[in-house]
Amino acid sequence: MVQTGYDHRAIRTSSPSFSDADVESAEELLHDGRTTRLRASPRLTSVLEILAIILSISLNIYLIFFRHPSSASIPVSSPAPDPIGADVVASFFTPAQSAIKFENRVLSKFGEKTIYHGPPTDETDDAWFSLYPIGLSRITAEQEAKLANWTSRIPGDEEHYIISLDFFHHMHCLNLVRRALWPERYGPYTFDDPIVGDVPFDHADHCINIIRENIMCDADITPNVFRWEEEEQEAFPHFDVVHTCRSWDSITKWASEHRLLNEWNGKLPLGGARPSASRSE
Ligand SMILES: *[C@@H]1O[C@H](CO)[C@@H](O)[C@H](O)[C@H]1NC(C)=O
Repeated sequence: MVQTGYDHRAIRTSSPSFSDADVESAEELLHDGRTTRLRASPRLTSVLEILAIILSISLNIYLIFFRHPSSASIPVSSPAPDPIGADVVASFFTPAQSAIKFENRVLSKFGEKTIYHGPPTDETDDAWFSLYPIGLSRITAEQEAKLANWTSRIPGDEEHYIISLDFFHHMHCLNLVRRALWPERYGPYTFDDPIVGDVPFDHADHCINIIRENIMCDADITPNVFRWEEEEQEAFPHFDVVHTCRSWDSITKWASEHRLLNEWNGKLPLGGARPSASRSE
């Protein structure tokens, strides 16, 4: 069984999660960016400004007095819809941007067995582990400076900073959930270390949440199709339709080219927090 540095890290520490609060903050950030751009646009004439104020006041009066009562209970602080245009591939910088290649793929037919299906064997285990052969990558200081969230310097390789591409974490998580379903082979599922407060860290639960958030984040809008099945006398959905996918191989290649060179030791203190307050997140 292949043990990756990634697994080691993810099991020993509670992995960073992409929470609902993150999504909200990210939206706020984008919203702020848009506001700034609007402010930077050429100044309006004072007549237009007055008209805008009148319009704004009337709109406020309308909203306060004439809005349907049920909609008035919606909290004002609920996040604004995502303002990103459909042509934007990634809103934040990722050093693996150059590795994104799109390809059309037909996904498995319903009922078709793949090497990833159970019941598990040494071969299925190898197949699953080989989906995330590389856990950790290193990037340059220049690339690090462009990240939305800062990361740390690698001890012993101070010119570089550590990252892991999220899709490897998802695959690790899915594999963990898969293994939890086969206690005959992997032993009964137990809560993983460490204990957070009094609560044992439920690794499978964490992973299901990570997978949920990422499926929602990517919201695949490929249309499944329906066909009449003569034998069953029933309409069936078909999932073996053409999907436009990011090339897994291409991104894995990027990760292997940017693979962490040192043995990863999570117990070594890390440096690299960005000095300025605005970039401290
Ligand atoms: C990443 O940045 C976002 C937006 O500023 C922030 O909400 C989030 O907490 C940051 N995460 C980390 C790990 O710093």
